[in-house]
Amino acid sequence: MHGRTHLTLSVTGIPMWRLDEKLVREDIFFLDRPYSLEKSDEEAMNHTLQQLESILEEHGEKIAAMILEPIQGNGGIIMYHRDFIIKAKALLEHYGVLLIVDEVQTGYGRTGKMFGINHYEVVPDIIVTAKALGNGIPISTFSTTDAIAQSFNKASSSTFGGNPVAATTALSVLNNIEQHGLVQRAEELGSYLKERLQEISSPFIQEIRGVGLMLGLQIQAINDEVSSAQITDIILEEMKDRGFLIGKNGLNRDCLAFQPPLVIEKDDLNAMLSNLIEVLSGILDRLTVTI
Ligand SMILES: Cc1ncc(COP(=O)(O)O)c(C=O)c1O
Repeated sequence: MHGRTHLTLSVTGIPMWRLDEKLVREDIFFLDRPYSLEKSDEEAMNHTLQQLESILEEHGEKIAAMILEPIQGNGGIIMYHRDFIIKAKALLEHYGVLLIVDEVQTGYGRTGKMFGINHYEVVPDIIVTAKALGNGIPISTFSTTDAIAQSFNKASSSTFGGNPVAATTALSVLNNIEQHGLVQRAEELGSYLKERLQEISSPFIQEIRGVGLMLGLQIQAINDEVSSAQITDIILEEMKDRGFLIGKNGLNRDCLAFQPPLVIEKDDLNAMLSNLIEVLSGILDRLTVTI
């Protein structure tokens, strides 16, 4: 979540981003994510929903909200079973707990819909966004229902809140997204990129995940000598030397993250793809020789 305060650092599900394990307070609970390579999406979903229900049953009274990314970004580009959020929301409503959706990575068209949550047909209670709205200018947003907004009635002021330069930039970013049909474009280019990635044959590729221009390529090891994280680093370095910056995420830091600017051209995607194919087969040759 936004910022580096004690509370926000405590709610990230990825321990490496916390300063200290002790930052996790007793009244913050984590769910297993509804995704696993070993289980079907449905089994994974049911497991997490059961976990959610038992936490709510026991502690629902003191829980204010559940926070989730509609598609996990740093977690490794993980989407959930299409019914997961809708079922989780029903449980939350039953216990009077709000749903906060973090759209910092998924927001503003990246996934081929304006917001990532649109893939699941759920209306959350609160949406937070940042990054893409400012196109480089620092800005973040908090959107909620009238009822929740009206409950915040204390005096408040913030040095950068409502900054006119950032707000004007955000409005022109939104106009630009609309005028150039970037949401639709992310859907089309994303499907194209996903199909091309799926066609690549390499023993290092375990799975391709995600939607729109938010795609992940899960790397796997082919022996005990070199880990999936090491293979990922080799690929990323070689791609960087060839002029392509690809992200890295996943709990084991072994997922290539394709999250390019929404204005990227198909030619650039094709150039990246042909280089990636060469790099993957080069590593295979190298590792095979080493073995
Ligand atoms: C999903 C998500 N939420 C929140 C943040 C952090 O936002 P901020 O830089 O405003 O603290 C990030 C940062 O990359 C992010 O990926």
